[in-house]
Amino acid sequence: MSNDNLSATISALLEEKRHFDPPKDFQDKALVNDQSLYDLAAKDRLAFWEKMAEGLDWFQKWDKTLEWNPPFAKWFTGGKLNASYNCLDRHIKNGLRNKAAIIWEGEPGEQRTLTYWDMYREVNKFANCLKKLGVKKGDRVTFYMPMIPELAIGVLACARIGAPHSVVFGGFSPDALKDRIHDADSKVLITADGGYRRGNLLPLKHDADIALRECPGVETVIIVKRGDFPLHVKEGRDHWYHRLMQQAEPYCEPEPMDSEDLLYLLYTSGTTGKPKGIMHTTGGYMTGVLATTKYVFDMKPEDVFWCTADIGWVTGHSYIVYGPMANGATQIMYEGAPDWPDRDRFWEIVEKYGVSLFYTAPTAIRAFMKWGDQWPQKHDLSTLRLLGSVGEPINPEAWMWYHQVIGGGRCPIVDTWWQTETGAIMITPLPGVTSTTPGSATTPFPGVSADIFDEQGESVPVGGGYLVLKEPWPSMLRGIWGDPERFKEQYWNKYENIYFAGDGAKRDEDGYFWVLGRVDDVINVSGHRISTMEVESALVDHPSVAESAVIGINHELKGQAVAAFVTIKDGYEMGGALEKTLKDHVTQKIGPIAKPEKIIFSADLPKTRSGKIMRRLLRDIAEGRALGDTTTLADASVVQRLQRRYEEEVGA
Ligand code: PRX
Repeated sequence: MSNDNLSATISALLEEKRHFDPPKDFQDKALVNDQSLYDLAAKDRLAFWEKMAEGLDWFQKWDKTLEWNPPFAKWFTGGKLNASYNCLDRHIKNGLRNKAAIIWEGEPGEQRTLTYWDMYREVNKFANCLKKLGVKKGDRVTFYMPMIPELAIGVLACARIGAPHSVVFGGFSPDALKDRIHDADSKVLITADGGYRRGNLLPLKHDADIALRECPGVETVIIVKRGDFPLHVKEGRDHWYHRLMQQAEPYCEPEPMDSEDLLYLLYTSGTTGKPKGIMHTTGGYMTGVLATTKYVFDMKPEDVFWCTADIGWVTGHSYIVYGPMANGATQIMYEGAPDWPDRDRFWEIVEKYGVSLFYTAPTAIRAFMKWGDQWPQKHDLSTLRLLGSVGEPINPEAWMWYHQVIGGGRCPIVDTWWQTETGAIMITPLPGVTSTTPGSATTPFPGVSADIFDEQGESVPVGGGYLVLKEPWPSMLRGIWGDPERFKEQYWNKYENIYFAGDGAKRDEDGYFWVLGRVDDVINVSGHRISTMEVESALVDHPSVAESAVIGINHELKGQAVAAFVTIKDGYEMGGALEKTLKDHVTQKIGPIAKPEKIIFSADLPKTRSGKIMRRLLRDIAEGRALGDTTTLADASVVQRLQRRYEEEVGA
């Protein structure tokens, strides 16, 4: 078979034919149920974004919509606004004062409801505390917190006084925290005594202290009291949040920020070992998250929105803090794990609070699938009307399960592609408009010029290539903190003045985008690119497989070969027979080219605490290299077990 034929076979076998039109009753009531937004953006992209920006409250209107000196964009220049004002003050004035903003549930079961008025009051007071401690506009404030309302309050308080925040996910190690504090040159750290995760206590202040030993520049630490965690308080440097708040003045004037003033830094991993501080500014970012939250989730005043991400990631920044709050939404915030105390915790929360819009990650969906239908079936999920997915490609099997078991077949699914760098959702269905297909994020949001390029920079009308964004968009990153060269090199070097996302994607005959994953996760077998996701999807399609991670391993003849790490469902027996079955299954689903060279069964896969499988570690194991950085792993022992298993199985 020629190479072209093989590629065609791969595509043909994986072709997903199912289409799901927006349900009629959903469509009838949807905020958008026609082409109007697409038409407006197609006619005049800048006019579209201006219209979206008009949804914000500006202290001073902008003079110029876009200044584009590639790769540096400025949006809404001359405009002045404040993000916390847009998330709070304007709602207080517009009749939402007593509406629930955050309904919080702690992992042990406590509940707190904060209205917009409560949030407004707390944010104002905390902004005054920060000012009193000497925090000024432009100072970077680092957060290392559990998922408690004070994290949202703290972030909005920073935005109020114009101090950019840098939230470091609470699951990161002290070392990772230290590096980020150094890079941002933060003088203030806000943390908590601890938080709860799967019944365990995360000793955040204790861990922060380890980091702080090597951060002499940190002059002020504020500690939120979450529980009764033992800790050391350093006189002069450390302050209790509740004590500061007791004395705080109730109102703090919001700082009128230039549209292009820095709103926050958020660190994300790049191809080198050093994390990148992604920079987001105020006017464009707020425009992007306001518009996408409203239209992608069809958000209405009566909705109860739940994004299950942690605020430590961009999803939490854009779709817990800024997007929903700028829209005046009521949302759920949950501190803990989905399987604590039992595997129906999420569904219990959905039922209890009547969640209507639910946004989570495919990795979670696959875990739910593995745990079985009995858990969601114990609960009344009839309030749900829309489901979302983010963070990685969703395999059609997981999509269908989500649709049927969680959505009861009646909820549109929005599979949203975006990145820390893009700030807001870029490729997504509009739920009242787009016919969805399991596994495809469908088409660009209005005003977003996504395309697929080949190696030479030619657009690929149908087929695979590199995902790019051809025109600047308001919520785009403005740079990498302290490293403009890396910014250019990383995103703007592959194609001239075109943003290179680092993802591989394909476009089908309907013009739908299929994001296949990072290009570094693509395997090249005998000169053919095979997406790890496609092989994984084929494996997960087999009834025995709960989850799989596929990597490329060096192969003498083929260059690279496929290795699959597989976890199987209860009731199946791992071993030679199943290995053969699975290899045959992949061959049957995709073609012989994708047949795994090796299948390594494992009870677990190494994941970050946000649930991403760390393929880099799997590659290290498979190629017998010393293990790279394991500090972000949820459970470091998984790797050791896996390494042993790999050696037993393949005699590496
Ligand atoms: O590879 C894409 C994948 O996640 C990457 C961005 O990761 P991060 O900056 O951590 O942001 C995650 C949350 C927005 C992308 O380059 N990704 C994200 N969403 C999807 C996705 N891959 C496929 N489908 C998606 N819906």
